[in-house]
Amino acid sequence: MAKILLIGNGAREHIIAEKLVYSKAKPTLFAYMKANNPGIAKLAEQSVVGPYSDLDEIERFATSLGVDFVFIGPEEPLGYGVVDVLERAGIACVGPTKELARLETSKSFTRMLTEKYDIEGSPKFKVFSSDDGILEYLKELGSVVIKADGLAGGKGVKVQGDHFETLEEGYTYCKQVLSEHPCVVVEEKLIGEEFSLQSFTDGKSLFHCPVVQDHKRAYVGDKGPNTGGMGSYSCGGLLPFMTEEDLEAAKEITDQMRDALFKETGTLYKGVMYGGFIITKTGVKLIEFNARMGDPEALNVLSIMETDFVELCLGVISGNIHKVESVFASKATVCKYAVPEGYPEAPVADEKIFLGEVPKEVKYYYASVDKKEDGVYMTGSRAVAFVGVANALEEAQVLAEDGVCSAQGKIFHREDIGTAQLVQKRVDHMKSLRSE
Ligand code: AMP
Ligand code: GLY
Repeated sequence: MAKILLIGNGAREHIIAEKLVYSKAKPTLFAYMKANNPGIAKLAEQSVVGPYSDLDEIERFATSLGVDFVFIGPEEPLGYGVVDVLERAGIACVGPTKELARLETSKSFTRMLTEKYDIEGSPKFKVFSSDDGILEYLKELGSVVIKADGLAGGKGVKVQGDHFETLEEGYTYCKQVLSEHPCVVVEEKLIGEEFSLQSFTDGKSLFHCPVVQDHKRAYVGDKGPNTGGMGSYSCGGLLPFMTEEDLEAAKEITDQMRDALFKETGTLYKGVMYGGFIITKTGVKLIEFNARMGDPEALNVLSIMETDFVELCLGVISGNIHKVESVFASKATVCKYAVPEGYPEAPVADEKIFLGEVPKEVKYYYASVDKKEDGVYMTGSRAVAFVGVANALEEAQVLAEDGVCSAQGKIFHREDIGTAQLVQKRVDHMKSLRSE
């Protein structure tokens, strides 16, 4: 029987834990988490709570268990180089090495690869390590996005019109980034509809999951500050505003990036490449790549994945992913997060969340919570994800909404995710862009 160690403590890892445990390989699961996620703890034979920076402890835990492989859920341990340490100890991993994880941890690295290897779909951009020439470039582009070069939990990106107005304000932000990071990326602001494509890879071939649309803004109607993602939907196949060509373009960009990563580093990327794309009036463009599954996007695709998850992980590790058949139920999925009041800027702290009668057709997954003796406490970020799966999007939406409404506490959620009205808004937006 296989033994697997899962690193991570979010809802993404809760569903990954479920997929691993319910594999036909019937493995024994162990977990390393930075807070006690009760959903993961229940599925694991043994779990340990500790910081993701403690690579020695993670290696010691994995070695003492004699695990067959380690699945790394979040970007934080990848950024510390947990895969390098584990692989040096002879332990296989689903997740890229520190050098390859720069796909996510360094926005300048990824943009540089698009230029060097002539990868399609990149916006106009420049990387600056001093403020020399920044103002001129801001003026040249006219409408810009500014990105700190490093992991910033989604908070390092500032979009003109959303987070600042004038180019002078943008220039001030660039200087602030440069005082804290080695470089700043300035790029053209793209207008369109975003989608996520998550692809497992052994470094040679790709196993694509169905596309998903996330909702980054905190409040109904896409208002308010950016968050880690308030919820998401997928339709099994294409999203309602996409064409087959859009999907093919995203797959092609991912494949070109996979190839570029190998050419650049000489090492095969083993893990997940999750591309954030935007469909503009001139076609599909690349917003960014992440080196792990999306959260909440993992909840959409893993809820309908019929391919055996352990088999897929072994395909990644052994370099045989081309032999793993990609099978997903053709169902719609909607995920809605219950988050603490005040999230993301001033979330209530140390408040309990109560799950009442969650309808039995709805699945729920714990995220940033800590189980203590007297209940489940929210730790300040997204708390519990509710997932509805159905033949039609509207049905899945109603299930997810019923689920999230059954939770109680100082929480809120976005009622509009997956609703016909919001989806139609996306369709109309894309239609008007395409006809420009
Ligand atoms: P990230 O933290 O890199 O996922 O970026 C957060 C959000 O910023 C993305 O989901 C987009 O909505 C937005 N964004 C990033 N780059 C661009 C761009 N070049 N044009 C327009 N929006 C962007
Ligand atoms: N859905 C946003 C993220 O996982 O980064």
